[in-house]
Amino acid sequence: MRKNLRLTKKVNEATQHDIKLELDVRCQKAIERRLRKDFPGIAILGEEGITGDPEAEYRWVVDPIDGTVNFTYGIPHACVSIALQRRAQTKEHYESLVGAVYDPFCDELWTATKGSAAKLNNRPIKPSSRRNLDEAIVAVGFAKHTQTLDRMIPTLTELLHKVRKVRIMGSAALATVYVATGRMDAYIEYGLRLWDIAAGGLILECAGGDFCHEAVPGDYTYRILLNNGHLRRKLEPFAR
Ligand code: IPD
Ligand code: CA
Ligand code: CA
Repeated sequence: MRKNLRLTKKVNEATQHDIKLELDVRCQKAIERRLRKDFPGIAILGEEGITGDPEAEYRWVVDPIDGTVNFTYGIPHACVSIALQRRAQTKEHYESLVGAVYDPFCDELWTATKGSAAKLNNRPIKPSSRRNLDEAIVAVGFAKHTQTLDRMIPTLTELLHKVRKVRIMGSAALATVYVATGRMDAYIEYGLRLWDIAAGGLILECAGGDFCHEAVPGDYTYRILLNNGHLRRKLEPFAR
């Protein structure tokens, strides 16, 4: 990703609100090679493809480049997100056991293992302690479709008047770990996919934050109201 940031990239597919690069696929393949070598029996559920049975007891959940539009345009705000999940009680329900989010442009690596403290470059992190919306920075995202945009527009316009700043930074996984690190106070989006939040969600929980998420119609699709652990109730009216 670092080597290619400023170069022109090959676009495999572009829609009004999304871009898929040949590099998305190449990065996923590189991650797959590494994971298959060390863990040949574990399936991989990636944004750019699936290897093995994604409903098996264990699976890797991989977003090879989160923030592809930023990356395409040369904006150095994108990351790699990898989680290891295990099936919980029901077939549909999985929990993350291990999570890693890496920002190659800032050389920042967030890690967490279920039951232990979350870390940034090996140092423990925690979310902010802000309890008032008028001091909060809230990240939002719009996903990729007209319906998700339409759903998020009222959230944006109503939030703008209530919080200190709204940020739309373009990488779901980084927004999540920024909340875990206390850089931002909450993050709201409708229509995210599992690979956007599986690793960051565990990191946020292990840091002591609130990984408030709910499945919505669509494969591996969610709405989220991630926050520092103090703002869920105050933000609920904005996250419909
Ligand atoms: C997207 C980014 C974006 C978020 C979208 C995601 P991608 O992931 O995280 O910030 O708003 O919902 O799909 O396509 O860059 O991997
Ligand atoms: Ca993503
Ligand atoms: Ca991606």
